[in-house]
Amino acid sequence: MTISIIYARSLNHCIGNEEGLPWDLPCEFAHFNRTTMGHSVIMGRRSYEDHRSELPGRLNIVVSKQQNYPLVPNVKLAHSVEGAIELGLKYNQEVFIIGGTELIVNALPMRETTTVYESIIDVNCEGDTFLPEFNFDSWQSTLISKHAVDQNHRFSFEVWRRTRLSQA
Ligand SMILES: NC(=O)c1ccc[n+]([C@@H]2O[C@H](COP(=O)([O-])OP(=O)(O)OC[C@H]3O[C@@H](n4cnc5c(N)ncnc54)[C@H](OP(=O)(O)O)[C@@H]3O)[C@@H](O)[C@H]2O)c1
Repeated sequence: MTISIIYARSLNHCIGNEEGLPWDLPCEFAHFNRTTMGHSVIMGRRSYEDHRSELPGRLNIVVSKQQNYPLVPNVKLAHSVEGAIELGLKYNQEVFIIGGTELIVNALPMRETTTVYESIIDVNCEGDTFLPEFNFDSWQSTLISKHAVDQNHRFSFEVWRRTRLSQA
């Protein structure tokens, strides 16, 4: 079993604002789709409310403490990160934590979390959702791709893969 985390953050560690994502970067979203396709994706209730739909081709699991939180068909409900991971692993041996902050912060120290896909968007932006500054010194970091500003991408970005080196 493998737990992976995937997110995109600005230079000042912002991941969200009241409209959802603070940017519209089609190639970054394509990377997210490619990487998570066929796996389980675990998201917090607020992140689900950005779209209130199923991300196709993946088992979608929403985490909420609310007992009967209503979801669109096919999307599953879990009441803890651990419960969501257990459910996700029944579907596929790699599950992706896709945000927001509490889920990522909870999952990062787990021994089973071996990979983090981090997109760094070259902007300092305002927002209402931030990640703490993670220290990836004891992880192996690989730059997977870089994307320049163009007519469809207002900001440039880099995609990094961080792989846990030690299981200590
Ligand atoms: N840039 C990115 O990569 C990225 C990724 C994901 C999301 N986002 C953005 O981030 C924002 C949402 O993130 P967020 O951190 O505010 O919220 P969130 O994590 O999406 O949702 C928070 C809610 O999830 C539930 N939850 C979280 N941890 C839980 C736990 N351990 N046990 C049970 N329930 C738990 C709770 O729901 P209840 O209150 O219902 O109990 C909590 O209120 C949006 O703006 C979204 O667009 C950005």
